[in-house]
This record gives sequence, structure tokens and C-alpha cells, in this order.
Amino acid sequence: MEKQKLQELLLDMSLTEKIEQLLQISGAYLENEGMVTGPENTVGFTQEEVELAGTVLGSVGAAKLRGIQKKYLEKQPHRIPLIFMADIINGYRTIFPIPLAQGCSFDPQLACRGAEIAARESAAAGLHLTFSPMVDLVRDARWGRVMESTGEDPYLNSRFAEAIVEGYQGKKCDDGSVDLKKRGKIAACVKHFAAYGAPAAGRDYNTVELSERTLRDDYLPSYQAAIDAGAAMLMTSFNTLDRIPSSGNRRLMRDILRDEMRFKGVVISDWAAIEEMLNHGIAEDRKEAAKLAIEACVDIDLVTTCYCRNLESLVKEGIVSEALIDEAVMRILELKNQLGLFENPYKDADEQEEKELILCKEHRLEARKAAADTFVLLKNENILPLKKDGQKVAFIGPHVESRKIIGAWSLFGKEEETVSIADALKARGIAAAVAKGSAVLDDNRGLEMFGDYVDYQKDAAAAAELLEEAVTAAKEADAVVLALGEHRVQSGEAASRADIGIPECQMELFDAVLAVNPNVIVALFSGRPLDIRKISAKARAVLAVWQPGTEGGNAIADVLYGDVNPSAKLAMSFPWSVGQVPVYYNEMHTGRPYKEGMKDKYLSKYLDIPNRPLYPFGYGLSYTTFEISPVRLSCNTIVRGQGESVSAGVTVKNTGTAAGKEVVQLYIRDHAASVARPVRELKGFEKIALAPGEEKEVIFTITEDMLSFTNIDMEFTSEVGAYSVYVGNSSETENEGVFTLI
Ligand code: GLC
Repeated sequence: MEKQKLQELLLDMSLTEKIEQLLQISGAYLENEGMVTGPENTVGFTQEEVELAGTVLGSVGAAKLRGIQKKYLEKQPHRIPLIFMADIINGYRTIFPIPLAQGCSFDPQLACRGAEIAARESAAAGLHLTFSPMVDLVRDARWGRVMESTGEDPYLNSRFAEAIVEGYQGKKCDDGSVDLKKRGKIAACVKHFAAYGAPAAGRDYNTVELSERTLRDDYLPSYQAAIDAGAAMLMTSFNTLDRIPSSGNRRLMRDILRDEMRFKGVVISDWAAIEEMLNHGIAEDRKEAAKLAIEACVDIDLVTTCYCRNLESLVKEGIVSEALIDEAVMRILELKNQLGLFENPYKDADEQEEKELILCKEHRLEARKAAADTFVLLKNENILPLKKDGQKVAFIGPHVESRKIIGAWSLFGKEEETVSIADALKARGIAAAVAKGSAVLDDNRGLEMFGDYVDYQKDAAAAAELLEEAVTAAKEADAVVLALGEHRVQSGEAASRADIGIPECQMELFDAVLAVNPNVIVALFSGRPLDIRKISAKARAVLAVWQPGTEGGNAIADVLYGDVNPSAKLAMSFPWSVGQVPVYYNEMHTGRPYKEGMKDKYLSKYLDIPNRPLYPFGYGLSYTTFEISPVRLSCNTIVRGQGESVSAGVTVKNTGTAAGKEVVQLYIRDHAASVARPVRELKGFEKIALAPGEEKEVIFTITEDMLSFTNIDMEFTSEVGAYSVYVGNSSETENEGVFTLI
């Protein structure tokens, strides 16, 4: 429909009808179905509100959504169709590894393929838009939603943000638009704006205190990347910034998001976030909350009555201009138009295609390959890969037979469709000893609402029996794979943990197995970096497999048996202990920087633990070895403002006996500037495949723009001075070159 027609439609709508377009209801109101992903609504909706709401969240299924849309249009005065939205975070039914794991692949195209597959499956199931990508920068492993992010680095997060938006929506057209009508594509919603990933104490929904400079240089780049890739919608965050909740923060949402970052799409509040301004204490009542939010250009009120019960009187009392309502409604109508819903309100909903696409062989294969490329080999004392013949391996631990390995946000994934490690062994014809050894958890504190779904220790006698079986299996094996780590519900939303260690019952199993067999390999399941000091010290190998998704078991077997050589690198630091958190590589020097081994007392350090994490950002081993030559710079000086650049080149050689992939990383350190600058920052990476003995040159081009930051005057610019360039295989590389910007 052309723009003119949309204008005419808007003019023809009553104020009530326009305001109803700004309401999103949960599918639970339409079909007694649909996912509820937040506190149950305290105030129910009237039948009229349900019948006129502009968008729906959480309902899926081609037949069901066609039925809802058909019934809705029969009553809709202007036959304006619904948009169906849901949280498709790491897959619809073919579940990919959690986003944090995908970030570790350092392969944005892996995430793009995952998003493409999620779009294909969910579009056939009738969905039009997903509340993804979540691009929040994270530095605190206590926060449960780190599993949803791609980690602690602004540059890495930005590359993944744009790749995931492209996977869902397709590439931008030459004119900068995105063709959302395309079959098998869904609209993307970047979230949570802004800086939701920095809650005080790692406690979900807690206060965020950041300087504006840190917000701009560390947190905003990934939202900007998603916006530049064409993300159709953006979701506000629950948290306050500068003591103002995002959904009511006019400066953040209008001045920064709309004006500076040039976001023109729809803004939706997070679940009940407009109403929650009452809890924050910045709105006396829902009417005031509605006023604050519409003035902060929040277009859609997600599942509360703030807008639909108050905007009309705010307009009639002259407190809110109707122009603000029209602006919001027009953005929603334009999104429906971009999706082609006026011409085809059912878009791709197709029962036959739904059956053919969901979990098809191709999708499963992609999910399996992706998972294997997200596993980080943290330690390997020549025990991996396992031998395919002549080696007796026992697979022990609460995650060996578990299919609860698809992550916290796989709302539509089904565990019965998931491949466990035990399933994979059977599929390979490996008759290995399997023993559970222990429950996942010592108790179900904080997880009571999950009932028996959570596997925790209930009975000491039964636990003793499990342990005994495991020790017997370990005794008779040449090597033991111990599948340990978190339950899938221990991370995700409202799942912060103050203790990020491994439960006692699992550590008891670890110690008991180690006592009878020193050849222990730990496959570590988690939605976050964990405190694994003891495991790391005593196991011969540790493979972080995160929450690997539908094909997780097969991917783990592929890597353990060497069919796939692990190539992932940490996208988030593994802390030494929770006391070190938040810990991240791109920290500041401080006035008293400490280097390991320094003896002075008055330095920025701990009395009881080291400063460096257990495993740093960008770190990960392979079954082969690589050599990276000293970095070669094309020149030592470039002139500011002349568009000049410097090249940094290395030669990478596979010096081992197995083919493998290396992630060559480029970091830059600004020696001195008008404000303190990080000890180094990732500014490029390249993942290259090398056969044994093969070598390749990797060259990075360093432009002046890559040196820019928010300076003392809050301007985004570069400054003259000396810069170090580091090129290596982790954030701790000392392979350095120096150049000067004059
Ligand atoms: C949740 C989450 C958000 C999600 C939304 C809709 O509370 O914070 O990420 O997209 O509600 O389910």
C-alpha cells in the first residue's frame, strides 16, 4: 500500500482505534495459548481491547494464526491486520546453540545461517517478527541473560548483531530499505535499549550506573549495528540509566535513539515496562506512565493497559498531543505494510511448509555444524580427541543422557527432538559405559516453580548409589568424559546467580571419578562462564559446550572423537572466581596498574586472587597448533584527517598434524588520550582454515575511524598520538607493533 493510502487510513481511524493499535496482548488472551514471558498481567483486558489490539505475542502455528487473523479481520473496522511476534532467540524448533556460544565461534555467518533457518521455520508457522537479536554487552557472569548475548566486546557484538538481523530479514536493498515481504523472512527487533546487560550486582532488572561516555563507546555500538543493518523494531530495557527507566527516558529514546542513531522503526516496551515505571517510582499512576512513555516515543505498550486506558483522556485533556499518537500509529502501520500484511495478512503461514521445514535434515545438519563450532577447548593435556578404536571411554554425569540442553530461551524447541550425548553415542554405534553419577543440583532453591523438571538431589541413599555406579564405570575405563555443569533453567531471564560454581553433588562426583581414573575430560554445560578453578586444575581436558541446542549431543561426539577440530574462542572471560566479577579484557589501566609478579603493595590488585581471569576473552585451543609471525606494519606514521591507514600483517602457520581453524584477532591500544582508554580493544578478527603445514597471510587495515572514541568534549573523534597494534590468538597476545597518528 503506498504511503498516501496509509495516511488516508490513519485519518479515517478514530482516536480509540488508533490507541488500540499501540497495544500488544499476549496470545494467551486470544487462544488461551501463547507464551507468557513475564509477570502475569495484574489488570485484565476488556473484550474490545482484545479485539482491537494491534499486535500479539507468543502464539505460533500456521493453522492457529491463520484462524486468529481471519477472526480478527472480521471485526477490525479498517481490516488492519495483526502482527504476530514471539521470542525466537536461538532457533524456532531447530534450536541452535545459545547466542553466547555463537559469539564464541567468532563466525557471524554461523549466526546469520541460524537466523535464516529460524526465520524460515517460524515464518511458515505464521510468525512475522522476532524479539531478537539481543545485543546487550555483558561483563558480569552472575547475570542470567549473558546466555542471550554474544559477549563482552562491542566490536564482536556489532558484527553478530548485523549478521543476525540480516539472517532474519535479508540484506538491505540498495536504497537502504529491507524487503520484509520476502518469503521465509521475519522482522527483527533489536533489544534491550539500553545497557540492560550491566545491572548492579549482576542481579536481573537492577539499576544500571554508567557514565555517558561508557554507554556510548561500549554499549551503544551493537544497537547501532543492528539499526544500520535495518532492524525493523527496537525494544526498550527494564533498567534505569541515570536513574530514569528507558521506557520513560526521553533523552535516551528521542535525542539519542531517534535523532543521533537515526532509528526510524517501531519501538516496543519490554514486558510491562511502561507500567513498571510505577514500581520505579517515577510515575504516580498508569496515566502518568503512559504520558512519559509516549513522549519517549515508545510506540507499543507490551501487555499493560497504560496506553489503552489513558492515552485518550491525555489527548482530550490536551496533555498529550494527538500528533504523538499519530506518529506511533503510523510507524506500526508502516511496519505492517513493509511485511505486506495489508495484501496478504497471513504472510507465509503454511501448514504444509511448516511440516516440511521444521527440523528438516538440512536444518539439523546446520545446527550440528554450528554447535561444534561454538565449543571452546579450554584445556587439553594430549587426551583429546578420543580414539575411535581400542579406547574404553565411560561417559558419566547428569548431562550425558539429558536432553535439557537447548538453553533457557528456546520457548518452542522440544527436548524430545533434542539429541543427547547418549543418543549420539548410540547413533555412532559406540557401546560405551554410561552412568549418571549425580543429580544436576544439590537442591532446587529459587527453582521451586519448576517442580520436578529440575533435577536435584532428593535422597542420600539414591545419590550414593548413583555415585557408586559411576565410580565402578570409571575404574574400568581408559578415560572418562564427565558431562557436568548448569541446568538450562539456571540461566536466562530472572536467573541471576551469586555463586557461579559447580554444585557440590557434581564436584563430589568429579572427585570420586578422579580418585580412580586421572584421565578425565569435562564437557561443561552452562549458560554463562562458571567458576571452574578446581575442575580446570585437575581435569586433563575441559571443553565448554554451553547449551548446544537440538543437535548438541551429536556435535559433542563430533568434537570429542575428532571429526571436528574445535575452533571457538571465548566471547566472555571465565572469571577466576565470582569475587572477580565483573571481569573483562578491555578494562582501564587505573593509576596503579598491576602486572603479575609485581611486589609493591599499593597496586590495583587483590590479596587473595590474581587480576587476570581463569581464561581470557579470545582464548581457545585446537587439536592442532598454530604459529603467528611477528606483526608487520606497513608504516609507522599516518596523518590525521587525510584518510590514511596502516596495514598490520602476520603469517599464520598450522604447525600441527590436524587441519584446523584459527581466529586471528586485531587489538589496538591508545597510549594516551584526553580521557582514559582501555588497555586494548578488539578492532578486527579473521577465522582462517589451514591444513597441516599450510600457512596464510592475514592483513588488517587500520583506519583512523577505528581509533575514534568519545573524547573529553563528548565528541566521537580520533586523537593524535602513539598506538599499539596487537595481532594474536587471544586478548592476551603480546605480538605488538607501534604506530603514531600525527
Ligand atoms: C521478556 C524479555 C524480553 C522478551 C519479552 C517478550 O520479559 O525481557 O527479552 O522479548 O519479555 O517476551
